Amino acid sequence: MTDEVRTDDFVSIYEVGLRDGLQNERGFIATEDKLVLLEALLDAGLRRLELTSFVSPKWVPQLADAEEFARRALPSRSGTTLSALVPNDTGLERALGAGLPEIAVFLSASETHNRKNTHKSIDRSFEVFAELVPVALAAGVRVRGYVSTVWGCPYEGPIAPERCVAIAERLLLLGCYQVSLGDTIGVGDPKQTRDIVGRMLAVVPREKIALHLHDTRGTALANILAALELGIREFDASVGGMGGCPYAPGAAGNVATEDLAYMLERMGLETGVDLERIIAAANVAERIVARPLPGRLHRAGPFKPRAAS
Ligand code: HMG
Ligand code: MG
Repeated sequence: MTDEVRTDDFVSIYEVGLRDGLQNERGFIATEDKLVLLEALLDAGLRRLELTSFVSPKWVPQLADAEEFARRALPSRSGTTLSALVPNDTGLERALGAGLPEIAVFLSASETHNRKNTHKSIDRSFEVFAELVPVALAAGVRVRGYVSTVWGCPYEGPIAPERCVAIAERLLLLGCYQVSLGDTIGVGDPKQTRDIVGRMLAVVPREKIALHLHDTRGTALANILAALELGIREFDASVGGMGGCPYAPGAAGNVATEDLAYMLERMGLETGVDLERIIAAANVAERIVARPLPGRLHRAGPFKPRAAS
C-alpha cells in the first residue's frame, strides 16, 4: 500500500489491466489507446497501477512500446503510483531511464513455470534480483515482488505452501516492500486461500501481502473474501477482467476491477473507486481490445432499484 494513513475499512485495488491485461492480447494495442485507458482508470479513482513491462519485446511484443508509453504517461501524476515489471538489469536500466517511481520483480513458486516464463531457475532469478533490487532502491525506486503459481502450476500441479512462503520471505528480505501472491492459472479455492494467507501472516505483516488472482474458474472473489476476513487489504485486479500469462497455458484474466470494487462497496469497504467511472473504463477497455470482456458489472450496471411502473 502507499504511505498515506488508511483505516481497516480501506481496501487498495492495484490495477494491472494495462500490463497483465494487454500482455495477453493477440494484437498490439496502440500507445494512444493505452493512454486513453489509463486516463479512464485514473478518472475512476485508481491510484496504484501497473503500466507496462520492461521485458524482452521478442517475448512480449504487446508491450514493446514500454518506453514511449511510460514517457507519455508519467508526467504530472501526483498521488499516483505507476509501476512496471522488470525481469533483469536490462529491464531495470530501461525502467530507470523512463523515470518509473516503482517496479515489480517476478518469479514463480514452481521451477518449471519460472523457466518457461523467464528462462531461469528460481535460484538464478534470486541471483538476478539480489543485484537488481539494491540498485533500484539506491535510485529511490520502490520494488514490489510477485510470486506466481502459488495456488497451482500448469506444469507441476499443486505447489507446497511452505515453499511459496519461503520464496515470498526471500523477496521481502531482498528489499521488496510487498509481495503479491499469484494464482496465475486461477485454480484456487477459499479453503486453500485461508491456508496460504494464514501461513504468510504467521511470518509477515499483512500490509506486506497482496493477492493477484486470475479468475479462470470463477473463484477469485470467493478467495478475496477469504483473504479479507484474514485482514488482507490489497488485491490486484484488471479492468474488464482482461489478462493472463503468455507462459501459463489456460490462464484467463484477473478478477475484474469493477466487479471487485462493486463487491467491496456493497460490503461497506472503501476503495476510492467510482463505480460508474470504472464501468466507463471497462467499456473503454472493450473498445480498444475490440471484443467482449468477462467482467460482469460493466454489463449489469450498479444496483439501482427502478421505480415500479
Ligand atoms: P532471455 O532471452 O533468456 O534473456 O530472456 P537473455 O538475457 O539471454 O537476452 C536475450 C535477448 O533479449 C538479448 O537481445 C537481450 O538484450 C534481450 P539479443 O542480443 O538477442 O538481441 N533482453 C531484453 N530486451 C529488452 N528488455 C529486457 C531484456 N532482457 C533481455 N528486459 C527474459 C529473459 C526474462 C528477459 C525473457 O524471457 C522475457 O522477457 N520474458 C517475458 C516474461 C514475461 O513478461 N512474462 C509475463 C509477465 S509475468 C506474469 O504475467 C505473472 C504475473 O502477472 C503474476 C501472476 O499472474 O502470477 C506477474
Ligand atoms: Mg498475472
